[in-house]
Amino acid sequence: MRQTEALIVERTVLGPGYYYYRLLCPEIAELAKPGQFIEIKVSSEGTLDPLLSRPISIYRIDRKEGSLAVIFKTVGRGTRRIAELKMGNQVSIFGPVGNGFTLPEETGRIALIAGGIGMPPLFSLAEHYPERDFTLFYGGRSAGDLLGLEAWEKLGVPYRLATDDGSAGFHGLVTALFEKEYEARPFDYMIACGPKPMLRAVQQLAAKYRLPGALSLEAYMACGVGACLGCTCVTTKGYKRVCVDGPVFDISEVAFDE
Ligand SMILES: Cc1cc2nc3c(=O)[nH]c(=O)nc-3n(C[C@H](O)[C@H](O)[C@H](O)COP(=O)(O)OP(=O)(O)OC[C@H]3O[C@@H](n4cnc5c(N)ncnc54)[C@H](O)[C@@H]3O)c2cc1C
Ligand code: FES
Repeated sequence: MRQTEALIVERTVLGPGYYYYRLLCPEIAELAKPGQFIEIKVSSEGTLDPLLSRPISIYRIDRKEGSLAVIFKTVGRGTRRIAELKMGNQVSIFGPVGNGFTLPEETGRIALIAGGIGMPPLFSLAEHYPERDFTLFYGGRSAGDLLGLEAWEKLGVPYRLATDDGSAGFHGLVTALFEKEYEARPFDYMIACGPKPMLRAVQQLAAKYRLPGALSLEAYMACGVGACLGCTCVTTKGYKRVCVDGPVFDISEVAFDE
C-alpha cells in the first residue's frame, strides 16, 4: 500500500452527482488489481473536517500511463468535497487497499451483477480478463444511474439493464432480470457488487442454482487499513474486516442476517 499525491488529469461530470476522475499515481497503479480500492483524503490542509478518507473502487487501471480511474457519486460531505476538486489539482490518496478479485482458472459463463455505484470494480475485472465470457447485469433506480455503457460496449461485454422506474431496460430488480436469463441459458459463476439487499438476493440465487462466485461488499470505513475494526462483517469464518480481508468474499461466506 502506498500514500501519494495524485494529479487529477481528467475530470468528467457523468450526470447529476456522478463524477469520473483519472488520477496520475504510478506507484499505486503499478500495484493495483481489479476489485481493490483507494482511499481519497477529504480533509483540506490545516483542517480536521471531515477528517477521514473515503473508499472508492478502482474503475480502470492504466499501468502504461501510471493512472487509475474512479467513478463516484456524491452522497455526503466527503464525496461532495472530492467533487469540488478540479483537473490539475492534486489529491492525497492511499492504496491499493483490499484483496481484489481472484477468478478461478475455469469459470465458463460469468454473470457480473452490479447495483448502482457497484459497477466500477466489475468493469476493471472485465477489462483485465478480456478472454473471459462475461455478461453484465446492471441495475439502478433509473436510466441516469446506469453509467459508462459505452465503455462496456467497447469492451465487447454484453449487458442487460434493469431500472426500478422502468426508464431503461427491464422494469424491476436486476436479480429478477438475471434469473430470467439464467433460466433460458445458465451461467457458471457470479460476481456481484452493490447495495446489501441486492447482494443478499444474489447470494440466495447462488444457493438456489448452486453457483460459485464472489461478492464485493461495501461498509462504513474509518481507518481503511485494518486497525479500527469499524468495518467488520459477519462471515461463516467469523468476523472479518471489509477493508483488508475483503471487500471481496466468497459468495457463500457472508452472513447477511447475523
Ligand atoms: C470498498 C468500498 C468501495 C467503494 N467504492 C465506491 C465507488 O466506486 N464509487 C462510489 O460512489 N462509492 C463507493 N463507495 C461508497 C463511498 O465510500 C461512500 O459513498 C462515501 O464514503 C460516503 O462518504 P460521504 O462523506 O460523502 O458521505 P457520509 O456523509 O459519510 O454519508 C452520506 C450518506 O451515505 C451513506 N453512506 C456512506 N457510506 C456508505 C457506504 N459505504 N455504504 C452505504 N451507504 C453509505 C450514509 O448512510 C449517509 O446516508 C465504496 C465504499 C467501499 C467501502
Ligand atoms: S476501516 Fe478500520 S478496520 Fe476496516
